[in-house]
Amino acid sequence: MDPGCWTLTLSLTVLFASTYTQASLSGHMDDFITAVQQVEDKAPHLEPVAVLQMLRRAAGIKDAAVQPFLGVANSSGPELDAALRDYIKNYVHHRVTDGGTEEGVVLTPDGTTVALKPLLLGLEAGLLSRSRGRVRGLYQLTLTNDLSLSLSSPLTRRLGSDGCWDSLTSPRVFTLSDAPSLLTTAQVNGGMDGVVLGMEVTARRPAKLSRLLKDYYRHQLGKSGLDAAPRLISRRRRDNFRELVTAPELIRKVVKSVELQRRLTRRSKERKQLLAAVKEGMKEFVHMYMDCPPIIPRCMWGAEAYKGTPTNLSLPLSFLYIHHTHTPGQPCLSFQQCSADMRSMQRFHQVDRGWDDIGYSFVAGSDGFIYEGRGWHWRGAHTLGHNSVGYGVSFIGDYNSSLPSQHSMGLVRDQLAACAVGRGRLSASFTLQGHRQVVNTACPGEALYQEIQGWKHWGETVKAEEVGGVLETLSQDHDPDPLKAPGTEEKS
Ligand SMILES: *[C@@H]1O[C@H](CO)[C@@H](O)[C@H](O)[C@H]1NC(C)=O
Ligand SMILES: *[C@@H]1O[C@H](CO)[C@@H](O)[C@H](O)[C@H]1NC(C)=O
Ligand SMILES: *[C@@H]1O[C@H](CO)[C@@H](O)[C@H](O)[C@H]1NC(C)=O
Repeated sequence: MDPGCWTLTLSLTVLFASTYTQASLSGHMDDFITAVQQVEDKAPHLEPVAVLQMLRRAAGIKDAAVQPFLGVANSSGPELDAALRDYIKNYVHHRVTDGGTEEGVVLTPDGTTVALKPLLLGLEAGLLSRSRGRVRGLYQLTLTNDLSLSLSSPLTRRLGSDGCWDSLTSPRVFTLSDAPSLLTTAQVNGGMDGVVLGMEVTARRPAKLSRLLKDYYRHQLGKSGLDAAPRLISRRRRDNFRELVTAPELIRKVVKSVELQRRLTRRSKERKQLLAAVKEGMKEFVHMYMDCPPIIPRCMWGAEAYKGTPTNLSLPLSFLYIHHTHTPGQPCLSFQQCSADMRSMQRFHQVDRGWDDIGYSFVAGSDGFIYEGRGWHWRGAHTLGHNSVGYGVSFIGDYNSSLPSQHSMGLVRDQLAACAVGRGRLSASFTLQGHRQVVNTACPGEALYQEIQGWKHWGETVKAEEVGGVLETLSQDHDPDPLKAPGTEEKS
C-alpha cells in the first residue's frame, strides 16, 4: 500500500472510530467510564487531575464560581477528537431543558442518576488538595452554590425533581417526572458523590480516574449485601454523606453562600426574609436527602401502570406493617435483580391475583435501596382489613430462618420510618407490627418476627377500629384481598 493510501485508510478508521464512539456510548455510567478511559489512553502519562481538567475543558465548564478554586482548564493534554468531545460535553454540561428533560446526567449501575459536573468538580478539588479533610471549595463546587441559587429563587418548587430514562440498557434521554425544580435529585446525587469522593481522594491518590470511578460505581455486592461491602461505593452515598457532613454545618455553608452571591447588607429586611426562606428550604433538603432513605421510583424498576383509579390514603397513618416476600425467596443484591423481583411481584399481584397493582407500599431490597410500590399516597393491598390505616413494607426474601442484612433493616427501621413521620405520613406515635399480628399468616417469617419485636414502635395487637382508623371492608376494596387459604403463605 502506498503512503497516500495508508493515510486515507487511517483517516477513514479515525472517522469511523469517532462516529462509532458517538453512536455507541450511551448515558450509562459504564459508557462514561469508557469515555474517560479513551481520554486516558490518548495521554497515558497524565495524572487524574489533568484528565479531569481535560474533561472540564471538553465540557466547556467556565463558571465564574469554578475558576477561583480550580483555575482555568485550558493548558494541559492533547486535543480530543470531535466525537469524544461532543460526548463529554453532552453528558457533563448540565441543564434542564424547556421540554422537561435533564442533560448532563448519567444512569449509574445502582439505579440512581447522577449529574457528572458536581461529581467531577468535587474530585478535581480533592485531588488538588494536599491535606485530608481540607479541600478548598469542595462544598461550593459540588452542592452549596447550586443549593443557594435554588433556595433563593422565587420559584415554589425548589428541590427534588427526579425522573426516568428512555431505556435502562441504552439510556439517552432523562425526563423529569414532575415540575422541574432548580435543584434536581441527580444534581444532589452528583454533589454528594463529589463531596464524598473529593474528601476521600486526598488520602487515596488513585493512579487512574477510570479505576476510581469503577470501584465506586461498579462494585458488585456479595451474599451479605452492604454489611460486608467496602465503605466507598455509590450505594452508600447517603450514609457516607451523613457521616461527613452534619446538617447544621451544611445549612451554615449554604446561608454563607447565599450571602456571598447576593452581597447583602447586614441589616436589610430582604436579607432576613431570604435567609429565613433558605433555612426553611434547607430543612426540606435535610429531610429529603439525609433523613429519608434513597427510594427507587416506579418508572426505574419498570412498573406497569396502576389498573384503575387508586384510592388515596388519608394521612397520617397509624401503622407500619412488616412483611417478607417469601417468594422471591432470596435477597436481591443488584438493581437488575431487585427490579426484576419487583416486576415479577407486580405481575403476580395484577395478573394472577387480579389486583390493581403490586400490593406493598414499599419494598426493601438488599442492594441498599427501598423500592417504591404503591408509595405514600395510594392505599395498598398488603394487610387484609388494615390497608387504610397502615403502610405495608416488605423485605425481599424469605426470613423464617435468617434475617435481612443489617443495612436493609436499618433502611426500614430507622430511615423509612423517620422519613414517614417527618413528612406527616405516619403519626409520630405510630405502631409497628408484623403481618402475622393482624392476619392469620406466617409472614414476616419466624426470624424476622422475633427481630422486629425489639424495634422501636413495635406494638402488641391493637385492633384498627380501636384507634379510630377506617377499617375497610372487602366490598370497599378495589383490591379483592383474598382470604388466606389454610396452610399457604399468603401475599397480603
Ligand atoms: C487560558 O485561558 C485564559 C482565558 O480564558 C487565557 O488568559 C490564558 O492565556 C490561557 N492559557 C493558555 C495556556 O492557553
Ligand atoms: C388523590 O391525591 C392526589 C394527589 O396526591 C390528588 O391529585 C387527587 O385529587 C386525590 N384524589 C382524591 C379522590 O382525593
Ligand atoms: C419456620 O421456622 C420455624 C422454626 O424457627 C419452624 O418451626 C417452621 O417450620 C418454619 N416454617 C417454615 C414455613 O419453614
